[in-house]
Amino acid sequence: MTPHPGAVRPEHTRTEMTQLVLPGFTNALGTAFGGQIAAWCDICAAVAAQRFVRGPVVTASMDQLHFLRPIRQGMVVVLQAQVNRAWGSSMEVGVRVDAEDVREGLREHCCSAYLTFVALGPDGKPVPAPILDSSGDPVAQRREKDADIRRNNRLRVREERRDNQ
Ligand SMILES: CC(C)(COP(=O)(O)OP(=O)(O)OC[C@H]1O[C@@H](n2cnc3c(N)ncnc32)[C@H](O)[C@@H]1OP(=O)(O)O)[C@@H](O)C(=O)NCCC(=O)NCCS
Repeated sequence: MTPHPGAVRPEHTRTEMTQLVLPGFTNALGTAFGGQIAAWCDICAAVAAQRFVRGPVVTASMDQLHFLRPIRQGMVVVLQAQVNRAWGSSMEVGVRVDAEDVREGLREHCCSAYLTFVALGPDGKPVPAPILDSSGDPVAQRREKDADIRRNNRLRVREERRDNQ
């Protein structure tokens, strides 16, 4: 299949961010605040989305976060983000968060997040996003299919909340 001329490969949106868990990022137990991890996910994912769009984006939603294990002070947090799927003006970015113990050289998966961003034009209104070209990449194609299912759930929840307002 011939890729769209303006299409972007998922790997070209890949973004990695590394953070050291300093005392200011921790709670009374000496482990990272969940809100801090969420903020880092948002930043890392926003960079991946901006690399895709080559313009401004805004966070429309962040799916549930499940923290699988605590991240202790002094550990290194490694976040990896990539655009999974693009629709009209919106796109889903997946973020994987690992915690690295540099003394042991071990990395453990701590949480994953899915965020939806919307590409914005100069007037602050949604504009079409580029096409994501996942041709020839079965992993990226599976992520696209999974993202479609998550989008349906998100938009259903959005409608339910609107109805309840
Ligand atoms: C996100 C935002 C730009 C959407 O604007 P809107 O006028 O509602 O536009 P639309 O309804 O046309 O939606 C635009 C796209 O966003 C998607 N979208 C909007 N809200 C969404 C949500 N909660 N979850 C997933 N996708 C969403 C729509 O499905 C649509 O996607 P598509 O073009 O790919 O089909 C607007 O709601 C906004 O500015 N929200 C605040 C964003 C913000 O400030 N974020 C920072 C954290 S507070």
